[in-house]
Amino acid sequence: MIRKKIVAGNWKMNLQLNDAIQLVEDIAAEAKDILDVELLIFPPTLFLVEIDKIKSHLKVGVQNFYPKESGAFTGEVSISQIKNCGATHALIGHSERREIFQESNELIKLKVDSAIEHEIGVVFCCGEPLSIREGNTQSLYVKQQLIDSLFHLSNSEIQKCIIAYEPIWAIGTGKTATIEQAEEMHCAIRMWVAECYNQEIANSISILYGGSCNASNANELFACPNVDGGLIGGASLKTETFISIVKSF
Ligand code: 13P
Repeated sequence: MIRKKIVAGNWKMNLQLNDAIQLVEDIAAEAKDILDVELLIFPPTLFLVEIDKIKSHLKVGVQNFYPKESGAFTGEVSISQIKNCGATHALIGHSERREIFQESNELIKLKVDSAIEHEIGVVFCCGEPLSIREGNTQSLYVKQQLIDSLFHLSNSEIQKCIIAYEPIWAIGTGKTATIEQAEEMHCAIRMWVAECYNQEIANSISILYGGSCNASNANELFACPNVDGGLIGGASLKTETFISIVKSF
């Protein structure tokens, strides 16, 4: 089973519109011959409409949305609105949303359901904080995140999801997981998918690594048998580093 290789850029709350347009144009041009790696960009939602006009073969997603159809939810955007503006994917369960915005496993589950209902590709983020890693209970912790918010999906629905393992202690810290730590967790995640669904489905799901992944370490991370690509934060904000990560397979 050949899994999709994916490199996704999570721009978080960075860049102004002109920089964002330039970055998409540059990445699209540099990546025009890269057809064996799916490229996903998660810009600030406000820039979606402009980016949709120039995205070329790049896929564009949102970092957040609210899982209701419409109505009195001041400040929020719905999944159908973001779909209407060209998004094909959504990040769900990112640790910054869980921690800073107190998103619960229940809300994350509702978001997963809303995305699936509207045929938006789910990029489901999971990962443990430092205290959990230090107590060596990261497997239980991550498995529970998956059980609570993702593993209720049906066999056909789970196959529309990408899983991103992002240990919180590695995000924005320059402290990347070792290849052993990354491979161990990715292998466990695949095993849990196999337990909940079946081995064929587990083999088909792309599992991305995120957390200080950069042009220097992507090569060895992507060489791990169960690492199918990366979810890149800081290093996705410059064409050169992002493209060099994309070429690390
Ligand atoms: P960094 O690559 O900046 O560590 O961020 C990772 C991340 O949070 C991507 O979603």
